[in-house]
Amino acid sequence: MYDKMAEPYRIKMVEKIRLIPREERERKIKEVGYNQFGLKSEDIFIDLLTDSGTGAMSDNQWAGLMLGDESYAGSRNYYNLQDSVNDIIGYKYFVPTHQGRGAENVLFPLLIQEGQSVLGNMHFDTTKAHIELKGGRAVNLVIDDAFETQKEHPFKGNFDIHKLTNFIEDNGVEKCAFILITVTCNSAGGQPVSMENIKAVKEIADRYGLRVFFDAARFAENAYFIKQREKGYENKSIVEIIREMFSYGEGLTMSAKKDGLVNMGGMIAIKEDENLYEGARKMVIPMEGFPTYGGLSGRDMEALARGLREVVEEDYLQTRIGQVEYLGRKLDEAGIPIQKPVGGHAVFVDAKKMLPHIPYNQFPAQALCVELYIEAGIRAVEIGSFLLGRDPDTKEQLKSPLELLRLTIPRRMYTNNHMDVIVEAFKNINKKKDQLKGYDFTYEPEVLRHFIARLKPVE
Ligand code: F0G
Repeated sequence: MYDKMAEPYRIKMVEKIRLIPREERERKIKEVGYNQFGLKSEDIFIDLLTDSGTGAMSDNQWAGLMLGDESYAGSRNYYNLQDSVNDIIGYKYFVPTHQGRGAENVLFPLLIQEGQSVLGNMHFDTTKAHIELKGGRAVNLVIDDAFETQKEHPFKGNFDIHKLTNFIEDNGVEKCAFILITVTCNSAGGQPVSMENIKAVKEIADRYGLRVFFDAARFAENAYFIKQREKGYENKSIVEIIREMFSYGEGLTMSAKKDGLVNMGGMIAIKEDENLYEGARKMVIPMEGFPTYGGLSGRDMEALARGLREVVEEDYLQTRIGQVEYLGRKLDEAGIPIQKPVGGHAVFVDAKKMLPHIPYNQFPAQALCVELYIEAGIRAVEIGSFLLGRDPDTKEQLKSPLELLRLTIPRRMYTNNHMDVIVEAFKNINKKKDQLKGYDFTYEPEVLRHFIARLKPVE
């Protein structure tokens, strides 16, 4: 085997993309109030907004679509998906949902009582929102190293075990609903959680009689990092690692739009608790659909059944993670400050470090996002104070500990030539970074403002 592996697939179908002229890019981004969510995808050359549902399916998955059994109840694709879940995740029960947040919506009311906290390493935004909608509080207990972008740590998604025990001791176990381990930890930069840390969390959970669940959106990428970085796992297969990881939990919610390798899909899976499964089965009917389809077409379930088997292939994971790492390394060599080490699904650029002259309340990472589109037609996303929003009581702009620009790499979509274009764009921006301006609102909605807000440059 060569050190550098080429992708373990070849391209059978292509989709046209084009780079519109610079003057048009300047006009288009201005027209949408300097918010890249407002752009039309046809005006984008390289779209790095998200890795969620944006990847390419395989010929095997596309073939599976033709075998969709669209029966309302008992579709054969449901049973195929069940086999994949049993084989790869190792849990007895599962309920399909239309996507990750659908799973959260169905499962969380069964686990949270008013005023209880859900203890996580770092919750994703929709997860936090669903916890709060059920009257709970979302608490983040990730290690402090996660907030130091320049500090190398193999598992920056780990729980801080002291913070976890202290929280339970200080608030009382009755105030805690459950522990949610997000693998990989998206909000901390796609950073993995080690098996050792998962085990330690489980031990604490057992000590206090709490239950452990997983937010499993990027479970295969987490397993790959464990295999690469954790002693004792070098010779284990990805599936062995995944099954061990999940053996420390009681259940999971999954957005299958990431490591399920599909454009739409999600699920709840439950290890063995029959009552909880019955609860989820009952709740899924009014919210998502009958329990053998849960918001998905038969063909979607078939694509997912096949995607779950493809994502655990080690040569796939090697080139997937390798490509993200390639982009990170090139940016680092070009002197662009990034979160290190590079995470599984994205490279996070530290905009606070790159644009120290733009204060948090003028959104440095958003300024960089706008410039990146103007420079090369690349769409990224801000993860910082613009996303964080205002204090619900005082209405003051909150200050995010990190101002990040996320370059999220869709799976099996772009080649390393695209990665090189991204690096070139950053090199050009770096030369004139002192001239970049911050942004202020011309329209600011109250909830989830970053999706539809309109901005103008601060003069
Ligand atoms: N959990 C994690 C860790 C996620 O990253 C996401 C989605 C969800 C849950 C919700 O899943 O979108 O299928 O409802 N993350 C996407 C992103 C949207 O861009 O990071 P969903």
